Amino acid sequence: MTDRPHYGRYLRIDELLSLQRPPGADGNARELLHHDELVFIAVHQVHELWFRLILHELAHARDILGRQGAFAGRPAVAEEDVPRAVDALDRTVTILQTLPDAFGVLETMAPTSFLAFRDALVPASGFQSVQFRELEILLGLRDEMRPAVGYQDALDPTERERVNRRLGEMTLAEALYDWLRRTPIELAFPGFVDAYVRAFDAYVDRQIALQRQNVHLTETQREDAARKLASQKDQCRAFLTGHDDARNRAHASFLFIATYRDEPLLRWPYQLVDKVAELEEHLRLWRFRHVRMVERMIGVRVGTGGSPGVDYLDRAVTMARIFGGVLEARTFLLEPSLLPPLPNPDIVRFAFR
Ligand code: HEM
Repeated sequence: MTDRPHYGRYLRIDELLSLQRPPGADGNARELLHHDELVFIAVHQVHELWFRLILHELAHARDILGRQGAFAGRPAVAEEDVPRAVDALDRTVTILQTLPDAFGVLETMAPTSFLAFRDALVPASGFQSVQFRELEILLGLRDEMRPAVGYQDALDPTERERVNRRLGEMTLAEALYDWLRRTPIELAFPGFVDAYVRAFDAYVDRQIALQRQNVHLTETQREDAARKLASQKDQCRAFLTGHDDARNRAHASFLFIATYRDEPLLRWPYQLVDKVAELEEHLRLWRFRHVRMVERMIGVRVGTGGSPGVDYLDRAVTMARIFGGVLEARTFLLEPSLLPPLPNPDIVRFAFR
């Protein structure tokens, strides 16, 4: 063997290719039980490799935005670091977009072929994917956003320790909100929140007037629509002023960034919050795609991990919403011409120094 880099040694291909045979009862690698057991193993392993990269990227984005350590008194995130966080999230989104294709490969396996080796898997299950749990936790998924099934019980002690370590770290959602909260919007627009609420009220009043003229509705339906629209004024106020100070400020920053996104210095911040929304969308699409594959493969059988299977997984698609605030904010977006021009636009424009 030489010290010269060599494809197989650098990538440790021999080791990698020795990992597609599961341990048997004696602890040694056993023979595959069916021709299709290899595709089952490979698609899972491919996922775990991508999960590994996703964790690497998410931690990078979180570290940039959150600057690890005490929450209070940290300096603002350097302008030039925001694109780096966007790049890390962009890579994550791209991976999440490609993962469902691997489910397509797995679906070339007939459900009856899966049944030939499925019993040998019990009680193992994707439910025990530690990296997936780490990924959820690092993003900011909290227990109340999960269907009520205790995943921790299915893990062994070292896996539980890894999960607990993640639970003690700052999450991407916390780092994002902390970064948003520190955006100095009052320098560019003193009194932004009051101006926004006034503009939103005026917008809703116009929507109400339009619905009152809607010839396709009965009088009662027109009044119902008007009432629902009017309640959005309260929702917008609550979004901007009904939480603790830090969250109110983060929500105001989001609306500010989205409204004035054409200003040069707001372009990257806008990309960042939009990437977060895209990430949530694709994680949910992955869950949805996984459960549709599961349904096609095992119907509504109980999972090998013992959960109610498809029913459990479908509930997770609906419940696991991490960046709800960033998405909720979209309900209150306005077309920019409805807002006053920025009082101090130079704050968010480029300048040669
Ligand atoms: C034949 C293919 C597959 C079937 C039938 C299947 C079935 C299931 C079922 C029934 C569950 C619920 C837990 C349980 O009771 O077992 C589950 C969870 C899970 N599976 Fe799969 N799965 C398949 C392939 C995959 C693949 C390729 C991955 C990639 C890593 C994966 C990742 C996961 C994850 C992460 C969970 C936990 C989801 C959560 O708790 O929200 N599964 N799977």
